[in-house]
Amino acid sequence: MTTPQSPSKPRRINTSPIRALDKDGNEITTVGFNRFGFDSEVPIDVLRSLYLRSHYVVSASVATSPQTLEDEAQEFQHAKFSQGHEVYQSKSIYHPETRSISYTTLSRFPPVKLLAPSKRKRVLVTGGAGFVGSHLVDRLMLLGHEVTVLDNFFTGSKTTVSHWVGHPNFELVRHDIVEPFMIECDQIYHLACPASPPHYQFNAVKTIKTSFMGTLNMLGLAKRTKARFLISSTSEVYGDPEVHPQTEEYWGHVNPIGPRACYDEGKRVAETLTYGFQRQDGVDVRVARIFNTYGPRMNPYDGRVVSNFIVQALNGEDMTVYGDGKQTRSFQYIHDLIDGLIALMNSDETRPVNIGNSDEFSIGEFAELVRETVEKVQAEEGTKPARRVQIVYKPMPTDDPQKRRPDTTRAFESLRWKPRWTVRMGLEEMVRYYKAKMAEGSL
Ligand SMILES: NC(=O)c1ccc[n+]([C@@H]2O[C@H](COP(=O)([O-])OP(=O)(O)OC[C@H]3O[C@@H](n4cnc5c(N)ncnc54)[C@H](O)[C@@H]3O)[C@@H](O)[C@H]2O)c1
Repeated sequence: MTTPQSPSKPRRINTSPIRALDKDGNEITTVGFNRFGFDSEVPIDVLRSLYLRSHYVVSASVATSPQTLEDEAQEFQHAKFSQGHEVYQSKSIYHPETRSISYTTLSRFPPVKLLAPSKRKRVLVTGGAGFVGSHLVDRLMLLGHEVTVLDNFFTGSKTTVSHWVGHPNFELVRHDIVEPFMIECDQIYHLACPASPPHYQFNAVKTIKTSFMGTLNMLGLAKRTKARFLISSTSEVYGDPEVHPQTEEYWGHVNPIGPRACYDEGKRVAETLTYGFQRQDGVDVRVARIFNTYGPRMNPYDGRVVSNFIVQALNGEDMTVYGDGKQTRSFQYIHDLIDGLIALMNSDETRPVNIGNSDEFSIGEFAELVRETVEKVQAEEGTKPARRVQIVYKPMPTDDPQKRRPDTTRAFESLRWKPRWTVRMGLEEMVRYYKAKMAEGSL
């Protein structure tokens, strides 16, 4: 039980912003760029207010006027994540006496750029309710474009974009892309496809259908509307690579019948289709080969190494490394990927482009880094547990590649793109996000 405090008691809400330094030690205040006649720069604190927030932590008493120490602690969490953008946030109010929840709607949407009609694009984002898609949608919305999200919510969720529902520039459509879809648009970001092994292996045949028939449908739409078409391909097209790091010229080393084939071969054929439509029908195409990406809104239980490690460490459970921990991976933070996708879409580069971070970690080293980051955030918030989590080793699953690192020379030469976020900085944000999710009971 907490004792009610005097309402006149001064508040101790610390709203000091969360700072991030880039690879050169400069503070990151904006993401995006202004080049190719296209300005995609947006302030990082506005973006953060959209993803670093808890949905359900507000209890009925906090929603009216915070009075107890517990209430203040909850408000503190909100203040830290909203950074003065509360007015643009909906709240979900928990009523403990009836164990019920009431949802509020937004009183005001975050300000979006006012673009001249000639600059405002009608953008279709397939898979826009997923991890990568929702961050792309936030960016495109803030930049003032008209965005339609097409998603069947297999791995995505309405909650990732719900803060835009009702906005005049935004439309959310539940649709499975294996069925044709008609819309007028200028650009298509084709992202729809489950991306984590447990999800894409859940129904392997459906994964191939999504990659093949879904891509066929979206390319058909691009052909009819003359929209520019960008597909999110993957480093998995290189399979278990025999060259290191991987350049776009490398044709890959993929097992066509293994458990990962539905995804790897699905993406390879999706690329083949894309260039088929370019050669035969003159469709204006872009191909992004995305390497391991992590960040807030990643499904915590999707079996990918970053979310696995963070959730295990936050829960105080031992962290599982598969294999001997010597296999290497590179990890890119979500904002770098979105910068790369927008740069590619608005550039003249039509060849495949690797987008990834080339800082290589062995999985063993990476587990240590995650443990350290979780401990740092827990120490800051006074929640460091007495027992240190251990790192344990288990046998390696089939077809897990030993080495993976992008050669991003082409991305730099064509797009002047290179990753800005250090893995440590990105991890810190993601740990805070998962911690907030835990506080609201949804993790
Ligand atoms: N996250 C990464 O590290 C990574 C790496 C390489 C490539 N990619 C690619 O980026 C894209 C997005 O990945 P993500 O990490 O956001 O995955 P995600 O699973 O979070 O998002 C995929 C989205 O597509 C939707 N979807 C799936 N099948 C669909 C269908 N048939 N019809 C309509 N919607 C459908 C899902 O509901 C989800 O919202 C994928 O194409 C993926 O292959 C991601």
